[in-house]
Amino acid sequence: MRIFSGIQPTGRKHLGNYIGAITQYVEAQERGDAVLCIVDLHAITVPHDPAELRERLYDTTAILLAAGLEPARCVLFRQSDVVEHSELTWLLSSVTAYGDLTRMHQFKDKAAAQRELVSAGLFFYPVLQAADVLAYRAQEVPVGEDQRQHVELMRDIATRFNARYGDTLVVPAHRIPPVGARIMDLQHPERKMSTTGGSEEGTIYVLDEPSAIEHKFRRAVTDSGSEIARAPEKPGVSNLLEILAAVRAVAPADLEAQLHGMGYGELKAGVARAVIAHLAPVRERYERLRGDEPALERTLADGAQRARAIASDTVADVRERMGVGAPRRSRPLP
Ligand code: TYM
Repeated sequence: MRIFSGIQPTGRKHLGNYIGAITQYVEAQERGDAVLCIVDLHAITVPHDPAELRERLYDTTAILLAAGLEPARCVLFRQSDVVEHSELTWLLSSVTAYGDLTRMHQFKDKAAAQRELVSAGLFFYPVLQAADVLAYRAQEVPVGEDQRQHVELMRDIATRFNARYGDTLVVPAHRIPPVGARIMDLQHPERKMSTTGGSEEGTIYVLDEPSAIEHKFRRAVTDSGSEIARAPEKPGVSNLLEILAAVRAVAPADLEAQLHGMGYGELKAGVARAVIAHLAPVRERYERLRGDEPALERTLADGAQRARAIASDTVADVRERMGVGAPRRSRPLP
């Protein structure tokens, strides 16, 4: 089974990215043929500093490797190194409904946050994301809850393409984890943890020092009452339980039973300890990997070469089906 996912090289990676997505990428190596892409072309759809983008790209590469991605067991690459993503975006745009793009939550949120320019790139972002996945004919897309709508859209795009031009693309399914798909901000548990929309105090970064993690959990907002349980009126406690369940790989219901009678202070301290222990080895490995940029660059270049071999085949089929370019004689389509 082919599994594809992408992550932006922007901001600092946080616990939401780690639990909701990165953990799943690492597991994908066990379950199938994993292809992971660091999406720098998506990152330029909002204002950015070019030099910083390159730095953040290396940071993200090192975090993914530190988390357990092994270049020998997956394809890890930088999106802009495989030009087929850009070409396929344009080809697929003609089977993408304009109305669907206007309904994308992420576009609406990000557009509302722009002060100067809402770029057409931001509007087209989901088409590029569809091209990312469809270029690899991936069956599965591990993501957090916030990407559900984007995966639905790529399914519609693939289905429409196949209906119009004949079976060519694989219609992918999302894989959203049952626990940890939407980690919330510790200070505003009604908002998702995020580098752009969250609070600094309420966001745990993968590379935070243990003392910072401890401090942020100690200050985490809890709810009225004293019961440790998941409930809609207890977003703070529910989030802490969800985080603990995810890092300990146990069911939240079992945790509720185990922690019955414990105070909120003790719960927060326990979650902090578990998260610190979970992230400590990642941080150590990161420090070693991040220092060697030429090695990171070699890993990405090798990944891009392997990625291109797959993507170019799909793009050639799509061009052929659409009647774009010179006809291909050597390998007729089924
Ligand atoms: P990005 O870079 O914003 O986020 C990377 C992954 O982290 C997940 N995530 C979360 N999960 C749980 N709780 C949270 N608070 C949280 N915040 C983020 C996201 O769901 C995502 O899985 N558009 C994508 C990148 C992308 C992509 C792709 C993904 C580009 N092409 C193709 C899948 C397939 C994005 O912005 O992710």
